Amino acid sequence: MDKFPASRRATNIEYAIRDVVVPARELEKQGKKILKLNIGDPLAYHGFPTPNHMIEAFYKGLKGQQNGYSPSYGLPELREAIAYDESQKINGGWDCKSDDVYVCHGVTEALQIIFAAFLQQDDKVLAPGPHYPPYMAYPQLFEGQTVEYSLNEENGWSIDLEDLESKMDDKVRLIVVINPNNPTGGIADKNHLKKIIDIAGKWPHCAVISDEIYDKINFKGNHYSTASLSDDVPVITLNGVSKVYYAPGWRVGYMAWHDPEKKLSLVRDGAERLLRSRLCASTPAQLGYLAGLQSNKDWMNDYTNKLLEQRDICIKRVQSIDGLKVTKPEGAFYMFIRITDEQWKSNDKGFVLKLLKEEHLLLVHGSGFSHKYGQGHFRIVFLPSPKILNEAFDRISRFLTV
Ligand SMILES: Cc1ncc(COP(=O)(O)O)c(C=O)c1O
Repeated sequence: MDKFPASRRATNIEYAIRDVVVPARELEKQGKKILKLNIGDPLAYHGFPTPNHMIEAFYKGLKGQQNGYSPSYGLPELREAIAYDESQKINGGWDCKSDDVYVCHGVTEALQIIFAAFLQQDDKVLAPGPHYPPYMAYPQLFEGQTVEYSLNEENGWSIDLEDLESKMDDKVRLIVVINPNNPTGGIADKNHLKKIIDIAGKWPHCAVISDEIYDKINFKGNHYSTASLSDDVPVITLNGVSKVYYAPGWRVGYMAWHDPEKKLSLVRDGAERLLRSRLCASTPAQLGYLAGLQSNKDWMNDYTNKLLEQRDICIKRVQSIDGLKVTKPEGAFYMFIRITDEQWKSNDKGFVLKLLKEEHLLLVHGSGFSHKYGQGHFRIVFLPSPKILNEAFDRISRFLTV
């Protein structure tokens, strides 16, 4: 049979978080029950439901026949509420106007639009290693390439500024900051963010992407909005409903363009064309998000405190197991654990696959978040209940001691 060829563009794509599900499914087909701690979806576990007032607003939109297309850049009232939220960040916001905000089908779509609008042949995106996988996968779709800068594990996964600066050249169009980071849970230091803005500012065509989708899941309250620290360098902030509003299946997020000197006017025109050509994000889901932004947010503190307790349980368990080491995450709901065990420290994927086969526990191998900077690690999600987390660590401990 003459099979149709697939594009190299598509066959190059890797998404480790979901790729490990394939062998897990095989085991499930054989009747095995798998404990899955691989996916950063709060709704995949009990204990972090989407708040009811947001669901009611979404439902009201559906019932009221608000089921048509919205304007391509988003519902005006939602853009307004997002702009207000950007101006009120805990450690200082920025002068965000509703026209700076574009509502997308999640941050993931915003990324595709940004890369499509910015990148030309061989342009570079500088992203942290390790990182959320689309930062490696997507630039290639638009003829660009990702170059990773390292994070300093010993120092809270802080940004290695020297390494970042050494990788700058006139092909770098975008520096990516993921803050808090997935998979490390690291929070970027305010001075490091300022330094990154200075570095970008030395190059005429370099902007900053600041992915702040976990911003309010910050255990010490030390998260800074990157845009709030920039006077002239363009910063595009990404955020949405998926993580801190606990509704990832709604597929609503945004990009907010902070560009005081209008350096990005041509790129922005391109991004707006792309946005119009893909119509809009889900209208009733935007209404649900609006309710989240406009209502009291005290419930978020309860959720964050619960996550903090669960993080601490995991830290204790890791510290009690020979062969593992961890740098404490200060945000998000992930832990990026170093494997120090002699047998597995150079084979994180082998570790994850054998653990899956023998203990029916699904994690994600660190090299899936960066071949170079993630290897020798695995990521665990601390969204499940303490009972499930303890069960997971019992299995890891048993696996490493036999
Ligand atoms: C850093 C980061 N950015 C973006 C996303 C996805 O955002 P969205 O659901 O809005 O597409 C994730 C999901 O895990 C993430 O970890």
